[in-house]
Order: sequence, then structure tokens, then C-alpha cells
Amino acid sequence: MSSVLSGQTTRVLSGMRPTGRLHLGHYHGVLKNWLKLQNEYECFFFVADWHALTTHYEDPRGLEESVWEMVIDWLAVGVDPEHTTLFIQSKIPEHAELHVLLSMITPLSWLERVPTYKDQQIKLKDKDLSTYGFLGYPLLQSADILIYRAGLVPVGEDQVAHVEITREVARRFNNLYGREPGYEELCRDAIKKMGKKAGKLYDELRAAWLERGEREALATARELVEKQMNINLGDRERLLGYLEGGGRQILLEPQALLTEAARMPGLDGQKMSKSYHNTIGLREDPDEIRKKLRTMPTDPQRVRRTDPGDPAKCPVWQFHLVYSGEDVKQWVDQGCRAASIGCLECKQPVIDAVLAELAPIQARAAALANDPTLVKNVITQGCRRAREVAEETLQDVRRSMGLEYS
Ligand code: TRP
Ligand code: SF4
Repeated sequence: MSSVLSGQTTRVLSGMRPTGRLHLGHYHGVLKNWLKLQNEYECFFFVADWHALTTHYEDPRGLEESVWEMVIDWLAVGVDPEHTTLFIQSKIPEHAELHVLLSMITPLSWLERVPTYKDQQIKLKDKDLSTYGFLGYPLLQSADILIYRAGLVPVGEDQVAHVEITREVARRFNNLYGREPGYEELCRDAIKKMGKKAGKLYDELRAAWLERGEREALATARELVEKQMNINLGDRERLLGYLEGGGRQILLEPQALLTEAARMPGLDGQKMSKSYHNTIGLREDPDEIRKKLRTMPTDPQRVRRTDPGDPAKCPVWQFHLVYSGEDVKQWVDQGCRAASIGCLECKQPVIDAVLAELAPIQARAAALANDPTLVKNVITQGCRRAREVAEETLQDVRRSMGLEYS
């Protein structure tokens, strides 16, 4: 199933900084969402290795390993390279070219006011982030998104501001460069090419939208344009842009697709994160996982087996919410409050469920780790495909910025 946004088939794009092997937080928070999206849309997922360097430029050792480990985990959980384009940012130099071109039109103040700019500088205060690259972080992200004309960008809450600035940059770009000389004339010609009947309908629908703000008319007009067989791509885009009064839509304004706050807590009840040392790695040894879960904290009030507990105050309960069915949850809730079950007993269904979930992932990851050529081939293919799309957008961008000469 693909849906239509601004008259274009929606493409989904998302990136992840290479942090090495992934954990259950990534799986439940991000990857399961990707798996769902890849069945519904054309998806592009990539390793944002340049973004990693914006904060970790001092020590790039281990970067390469982190990249491949992450790609193995993507594939192991079921991201399917047959349907999805997987690639590495730094292998698509077009991102850098678009970044530099967008930098010409991006006011400094737009970048300075992105909340992550100051927040991250404070949070990572042991790093010197008063760099040009770090200020440009969101604009590089804009280039990542705009170069694929992505309609939807699945991101966490902290990244919404980056999608927002991307929309502003696209709008500014289209306003500056979307109006070719003789634009109006070209649009009238394109309308003629639709034929008398369709052309008249287009004019009526356009007026209904622009003069009376009828949303339905806009949607119908877009469908009408999409349906035309005998107009070329340039005319099609022109007609779609003309519908909204403005110039040609060279860059598409994307929308953030907010990933729900991860329900997967860490072993201590805080967000699962490597920096909190509370993770369960997707490829961690089952015995180690068993040990971690057996020793994870429970309701601190429940000191002795005979003390009643409160699941609401227990991180194990959070795991039951992710992994257990109604019957088990009821058994926990009653057993905990009545002190009729022990904490180890309570943890067993979680241990079983986590290990069962990870078994097939670990098997696939082991096979992939043994076959680096296969993994590299997936990425080589993905990079080739990504470059094709990126190059197409970039040609349009270069042309509209007066850089067409050779
Ligand atoms: N900044 C994102 C993060 O830290 C990673 C990223 C880079 C990204 N480029 C992107 C996400 C483009 C979505 C689209 O999570
Ligand atoms: Fe937590 Fe379960 Fe122990 Fe209750 S019985 S405190 S929910 S581990």
C-alpha cells in the first residue's frame, strides 16, 4: 500500500547514528516500527556516520565497526533489503553537495535556535561542540531527507525540530528557485496538453482551492494531474506546484512520523540506553541475559518474600507490559500485591519471552556476522539505488541554482 502526499508516492526515510550493536530499546522503540513501515511504503534507511562525527570527531576509531555491527542488527531483526534501500550516508557524497547548497540559503539564526544545539552542548559538556559541523547538524539532516524527496520521516520526539527546519528550508528553496522564467506560460502550456476537458476541470478545481479554499478540490485536482498519461514529469510537477499558487515543488516538504515514546525501559526502570548501563543487547549471550534479568531491581519496598509489593513501582512490571499477555499480567498483579509469588518466579515469564524473542534474531545475526560479503553486498546495492535517486534530485537543484553548466 502506498499513499499519496502532495501528489507523490510517499517515500519514508530515516537514519540512525552508528552506535555499534543495538539493544532491546532500539528494537522496541525504532526497529519494529521500521519493519511495519517497510511493508507499507517505499523505505530508505541509512547509517548516519557523518552525523556521528559531528560529536565524536576526536576519536573515529571504532566507527567502521559500529557501522557494520548496526547493519547486521538491522538485517537480523528483519529489515528486508529486497524491499528497502539500506545505505551509508558517507557513501552518498550527494548529501554533502546538497548540504553545501542549502547552506547558502539557510539563515544562521534558524540553526542557532534549534533546541538540540544548546541542549546537546550542555549535555555533552566534555566535548567541544562549538564547531561548524555541529551547528550544521540539522541542515545535514535536512539534506539527507530532501535529497530523497521523502514524505515521511519516522523520528523520536527529540528530532521533530529537525524535521521542522527541513520543512522551512524546503519552502524557502522552492520560493527562491521554484519559479522558472516564463513560469505562468509554461503552466498554461502544460494545462493545454491535458486536453480540453481535463484542462477546464483543472482550472475550475484550482480556482476552487485558491479562491475558495476548498480542500477537496485540491485533492481532486492532484488526482487529475496524477492520472494524466500524456504529460511529462516536468509538466506534472509544474502543474502540481501551480495548483498551490506557487512555483514548482523542487524539494518536498516532509512530515515527521512521531515514533511513540519507547515503552521498553532499561533494567533499572530508566530509559534503556548504553550510557545508563541498563541494556539488554540483541546479541547478548542468553546466560548473561538471564543473569541480568534475575538480578534486576524490583519494588524496593518488597524486601522480604513475605512483603507485599506494588507492580507500579517495579521495573519488572514494565517488562511484563511489553512481553506478557493478560493472564500473566493478572497473575503478577495479584501475586505481587498478595506476596503469593516471589520476584524470581515473577521474572521467569519475562526471561522466557525475551530469550524466545531474541533466539531467531541471534541466529540470523550469527549467520550474517559470518558472511561479511553478503552484508557488504546489501549495502553496495543500497548505495547504488540511493545514489540514483539522490542524483536525480540534485540535478534539479543544480539546475534551479544556476549550476547547470559543465
Ligand atoms: N539525527 C538523527 C538521530 O540522531 C539521525 C538522522 C540523521 C536522521 N539524518 C537523518 C533521522 C534523517 C531521520 C532522517 O536520531
Ligand atoms: Fe516486581 Fe514481580 Fe517482584 Fe512484584 S513480584 S516486586 S512485580 S518482580
